[in-house]
Amino acid sequence: MKTKDQVLETLLEHESVYLSGQEIAQRLNISRAAVWKAVKKLQTEGYSIDAVTHKGYMLFGNTDRLSCQGIRRRLRPELSHIDISILPAVTSSNTLLRERAGEGASEWTLLLAEKQTAGRGRKGRSFFSPKDTGLYMSLLLRPKNDSADQAVRITTIAAVAVCEAIEEISGKRAEIKWVNDIFLDGKKICGILTEGAVSFENSQLEYAVLGIGMNLYQPKEGFPQELSSSAEFLFSETQKDGKNRIVSAFMNRFYEYYSAPFSADCVKRYRDRSFVIGKQVLLRTGNQLKEAFVLGIDNECRLLVEYSDGAKERCHSGEIQLLF
Ligand code: BTN
Repeated sequence: MKTKDQVLETLLEHESVYLSGQEIAQRLNISRAAVWKAVKKLQTEGYSIDAVTHKGYMLFGNTDRLSCQGIRRRLRPELSHIDISILPAVTSSNTLLRERAGEGASEWTLLLAEKQTAGRGRKGRSFFSPKDTGLYMSLLLRPKNDSADQAVRITTIAAVAVCEAIEEISGKRAEIKWVNDIFLDGKKICGILTEGAVSFENSQLEYAVLGIGMNLYQPKEGFPQELSSSAEFLFSETQKDGKNRIVSAFMNRFYEYYSAPFSADCVKRYRDRSFVIGKQVLLRTGNQLKEAFVLGIDNECRLLVEYSDGAKERCHSGEIQLLF
């Protein structure tokens, strides 16, 4: 671990308390000058650290910055050694992680960014990814089970794990709009984009990159006009270590579901949070746009719909818009 990260870890353990440079230096077996240098670096990275002569250093308690340690120390033991990177800015964390996957990165590699300059959503759309107010993360998976439905299953359990993580950290109940949009109070706060690479040799899924983008705080400049009536954010005030807590809560839950055989219980959790069942919707599948009534969601997470002519269909992908 870098000296800077060790100093951060020590300050995090003693949040809102002054620790002298001497004390930190002794704990970490480094010089006081090295402590001072690390603190300067952390301050330029945006950490609010007070430095007072004869008192020492104190990390203000209400900071919410992503940190590898802040995530790792809350992860379940099976995940405690995964590769985590946090980058100040990327084009798209999914794009970057796909490159790393091609170079042999290991399963559970987690890549987070403080901002994205070309964040991507489903159907070739862009994903608004301003600095610091959102969570932009991508997780590399190398599924052993090569079933064609694997990508749908990953997205399904990810949607459930995101909702449960949100609830654990904020106490707010998040809901799912089929297939993979997460809503709070009727507005979208999170989108999921799962991308896979299939091997030419045996047509099996080589890896999947699970990308999650969440609006945590109100963007400093507000949402762009096209999102202003449909987008929501999770926290109205700075949450102490909120980002790291959400990421580890998500990872812990996702690991639990992903490691077990895909089960009806998981789909039940998905269904229980789905607010489209029993609603009249506009359903887009491929180039078709049709009005339909949502009857339910089956155990493979397909949407069961009935059209106005009485015909029924099971859809495994598509997009819906509530009509009323
Ligand atoms: C959607 O709403 O259509 C899906 C949005 C997925 C956004 C996330 S942010 C992290 C990862 N990197 C990307 O470029 N996209 C995903």
